[in-house]
Amino acid sequence: MDISSGLEDVYIKHTGLTSIDGEKGILRYRGYNINDLVEHSTFEEVAYLMLYGELPTSEQLRTFKNSVEKGYLLPDYVKQIISSMPREAEALSVYMTAFAAMSASESNFKWSPQTDKAKAAEIIGHAASVVANANRHSMGLQLRDLAPSDSYARSFLEAALDRKAEQGEVRVMDRALILYLDHEVPASTTAALVACSTLSDMYSSIAAAIAALKGPLHGGAAESAYTQFARIGSPEKVDAWFNENIVEKKQKLMGFGHRVYKTYDPRMKIFKKMATDIVKRDEDRNILLTAEKLEERGVEQFGAKHVYPNTDYYSGIAYRAVGFPVNMFTALFALSRTTGWVAHISEYNESEPRIMRPRALYKGPGPRDLAPVSHH
Ligand code: CMC
Repeated sequence: MDISSGLEDVYIKHTGLTSIDGEKGILRYRGYNINDLVEHSTFEEVAYLMLYGELPTSEQLRTFKNSVEKGYLLPDYVKQIISSMPREAEALSVYMTAFAAMSASESNFKWSPQTDKAKAAEIIGHAASVVANANRHSMGLQLRDLAPSDSYARSFLEAALDRKAEQGEVRVMDRALILYLDHEVPASTTAALVACSTLSDMYSSIAAAIAALKGPLHGGAAESAYTQFARIGSPEKVDAWFNENIVEKKQKLMGFGHRVYKTYDPRMKIFKKMATDIVKRDEDRNILLTAEKLEERGVEQFGAKHVYPNTDYYSGIAYRAVGFPVNMFTALFALSRTTGWVAHISEYNESEPRIMRPRALYKGPGPRDLAPVSHH
């Protein structure tokens, strides 16, 4: 009997949400190319598309925005929990803790298409407030709810950074929210689905997804990739660093490789352009130039194996240029992906859900007689 190591090529559900052509490097949400969505749509429109199946009319968009904005208000106990965390805590851990805490009031939650959609909007609003306040807490600022504005991206940025956001920054944030919104069933989404398949509530399922996102092989890769560029220090040092660490020590190049893409990740190309357009400070430009040189060297080395830069390669440079510290990168990914998680949870519950219960093939000792342990 074959074991699928890493669940490779195992299909766990049908989906009408996201399709990936890994050979050609094409990503579509509900049939729309990611390049078109990023160019012509807003995060709120795409979130609606994912939850309801079609792009919204103006009236539908207004109603949806209002429901999300209600979620900007956090219960007091959640603010107290965030305030009680160490200031240097990783923002993603703050997010996971806040959502685990909010699951406490969900024990009577019953799944239904209506409650799912209402809960989804509330969760998308709460997510922005929690992640923005995780950043405020790390800066030693008083926590506050998000204020409604012309966009989710702006409300989030202005609360998180405690200042007015420029239009260019809002656009980068909005696009990043769209780019990371969904990606079929990676480890985090699968974790959410495993939790929800037991009829657990949506907050608990999101907490499970966040736990799975945290590692450097998944959502933590943006932080690892950025740290790798910073450690190298400058474009001239790329070759020597690469030879020593990647060729000789056989370390992984962070921000490279993907289970599904066998060519360039289309999201990476958009993040690269956004990062190039937004970096202003010399320090950020140096990191960008280092990343570009490393990209060339990495593709030269690994292209033949179909290992190319992924979405996490340049995203950190764009986030940093907007003003976020490195320890916010994974939380920013999680904030975007929360909509994908709730959309997958809703889709799973609207199909004919069964509890996910795979098997493990036993390889241990055969049957044997028990000789009770003597404790004398
Ligand atoms: N650096 C060097 N070699 C690599 C890399 C890399 N980043 N990624 C894959 N390879 C090689 C790997 O050594 C293997 O070579 P060989 O066939 O000679 O043994 C081959 O490519 C296949 O790799 P794999 O480990 O079997 O691939 P996987 O599908 O199990 O893992 C991955 C996918 C994303 C975990 C892996 O590519 C990786 O660890 N990348 C670095 C971390 C990273 O950037 N993660 C972000 C993923 S994309 C967005 C997200 O999910 O957050």
